Amino acid sequence: MADMKAILTVDGIDEPLELPVYKGTLGQNVVDVRSLASKNLFTYDPGFVSTAACESKITFIDGAKGILLHRGYPIDQLAEHSDYLETCFLLLHGELPTAEEKETFVSTIKNHTMVHEQLNHFFNGFRRDAHPMAIMCGVVGALSAFYHDSMDISNPEHRLISAHRLIAKIPTLAAMVYKYSIGQPFMYPRNDLSYSENFLHMMFNTPCEEKKVSPILAKAMDRIFLLHADHEQNASTSTVRMAGSTGANPFACIASGIAALWGPAHGGANEAVLNMLEEIGDESNIDAFVAKAKDKEDPFRLMGFGHRVYKNFDPRAKVMKATCDEVLAELGMENDPLLKIALKLEKIATEDEYFIKRGLYPNVDFYSGIILKAIGIPSEMFTVIFATGRTPGWIAHWNEMISSDYRIARPRQLYTGSPKRDYPTK
Ligand code: SDX
Repeated sequence: MADMKAILTVDGIDEPLELPVYKGTLGQNVVDVRSLASKNLFTYDPGFVSTAACESKITFIDGAKGILLHRGYPIDQLAEHSDYLETCFLLLHGELPTAEEKETFVSTIKNHTMVHEQLNHFFNGFRRDAHPMAIMCGVVGALSAFYHDSMDISNPEHRLISAHRLIAKIPTLAAMVYKYSIGQPFMYPRNDLSYSENFLHMMFNTPCEEKKVSPILAKAMDRIFLLHADHEQNASTSTVRMAGSTGANPFACIASGIAALWGPAHGGANEAVLNMLEEIGDESNIDAFVAKAKDKEDPFRLMGFGHRVYKNFDPRAKVMKATCDEVLAELGMENDPLLKIALKLEKIATEDEYFIKRGLYPNVDFYSGIILKAIGIPSEMFTVIFATGRTPGWIAHWNEMISSDYRIARPRQLYTGSPKRDYPTK
């Protein structure tokens, strides 16, 4: 597989070290450093800025050109021509489904949307004001307790039914989390509705009144799920892979991904963006907040700006912004004050040398919160929406790793602690 080689000379080691270099289909070449351990050497890369942790065929990102491909298809084309469940199939299986395959997949997912009735009791242990992500971590992990019939991760059929169960049940659990937080009864999924219609039905209908789900909002919800479906080896996906490398069951692995996503530097950013826009409150305050974001002494950062990989624009943010304009116009909310602050903030920041020099542009989280708020979803549910959308990506990466020749992930360290010392005896 080596296409090229790298020569490493290290003080104290006589012979130069020859390391294989591999070339992917697209993107950066990688230097295979696995042989360094036998030379008593480790690479050092906190935050994995320069580390490829695995080989993958699922998603490709070019941060400089703002490119995002799922199995080779550009995200803007998928957003325009595909839908969320078709993209789930693509991520899982590597190819777009035929019409028959899609019909079967949609039907399969529909028939797994209910959760075991006993799961309902898990919610009662949480305070009503618990953060929705705290409950999601708990109840998704608890799914492990219900599917002992399909926990052999070496069995492709078990892996597939687990994938179906997770894609189908996580929106049901997400809606249950919301209903629990507002003290309303859980709504059962309905098989006559599309995936995103069903989610909005479970979120906003009650046993007393079942309103028809707006097709505009259902399409916006489907687009948001699609734009969040996968994103290469991000922090939560890497967490899922790390958990999966120990042989943990898929439900536990997805729960670990949900926990990692919660952080405001990652999936928690969409909630943080809305809180920031509300804190800014008026366009006249924007300059002060931009100054805070640039002040090294101030921990404040502009939420929804910047990205580890995209140093130009996040292609998802462009599609999200277009969707935001569509949804707000169709809802007659184009003068939404938060949108106006967001647009002004984006203009100021993207013309400011500090942000331009550091390649800090709006990311996927910058506009998503405004759409979700327009749909009627409270900000503390935003990261739950992100987790729901990202589930097929997590599962696709978990499945890709488990079906390959993988090893337990066990990084090493640079130790700078105390040398050996004896316990003081009297
Ligand atoms: C997601 O990885 C993925 O793919 C994630 C994701 C996915 O789909 O899975 O795309 C989803 O997590 C999007 C990112 C959401 N997070 C936010 O919006 C939070 C705000 N953004 C930052 O916290 C930050 O930009 C990160 C975490 C996204 C990226 O951090 P990095 O790559 O470690 O960059 P860095 O912290 O080294 O910053 C580089 C410089 C620093 O300044 P200098 O030390 O060079 O002077 O840019 C500055 C930072 O201080 N900087 C910011 C900033 N982000 C970085 N300054 C002000 N505001 C910001 N938002």
